[in-house]
Amino acid sequence: MNSPFTHGLFISFEGIDGAGKSSHIEGLAQAFRRQGRAVTLTREPGGTPLAEKLRALMLHDAMDPLTEALLAFAARRDHLCEVIEPALARGDVVLCDRFTDATFAYQGAGRGFDLQALTVLERMVQTGTAPEPGLLREPHLTLWFDLPAELAAQRLAGARVPDRFEAEPGSFFARVAAGYAARAEAAPRRFARIDSSASREQVWHSIAQLMLERGLLGEAALAQPGTEAA
Ligand code: TYD
Repeated sequence: MNSPFTHGLFISFEGIDGAGKSSHIEGLAQAFRRQGRAVTLTREPGGTPLAEKLRALMLHDAMDPLTEALLAFAARRDHLCEVIEPALARGDVVLCDRFTDATFAYQGAGRGFDLQALTVLERMVQTGTAPEPGLLREPHLTLWFDLPAELAAQRLAGARVPDRFEAEPGSFFARVAAGYAARAEAAPRRFARIDSSASREQVWHSIAQLMLERGLLGEAALAQPGTEAA
């Protein structure tokens, strides 16, 4: 059966490790489903069998920043072709835990990899996948969970065995946070900043407000019990 929604909606979720984005993605997925939308819930790096293999390499094997950036973009290309574009073509809501802003923040600002080179890769990888010729595929909306690096580190402390990124020092995450701020400044219409220093309930409230204001979700879908991520 064809979906009544002809326009897909692509939302990405960003922020430094420990900013608390993951717990709200499921809540939003439920709200969109209550509104009758089909939801594709996915993540980067990853989202396809090939990209998940590349994710495991990126998170656990030592490598230089260029290799890391190329793996992130290789995973992204596969993910776009195999999952994101088909989902958008069906009219799904695609909720993606991280996308290209993470590469600019982590490999660019964090590792110090050349931002111009990342911009070239972004264009190569994200063009030619959409049906519209020449369209640079980007999220329609990016929820940026903004939290000072020291607070994020406190939240992460002792949570689990850290991967290569989580094991980085506070100075790395301060650079990553600044990288996100720069991306947000460059694309103010796409980015929505969520103050993640608030309680989980308050953060959810901010997200719900934003969705209402942008006309993406209605009161009924947001108000139901269980909307807040468990
Ligand atoms: P994350 O999304 O935080 O997943 P989990 O909650 O399972 O830890 O972990 C992915 C890590 O990959 C995160 O530390 C950021 C990093 N990353 C990059 O360095 N570059 C990228 O392009 C992407 C998408 C992620």
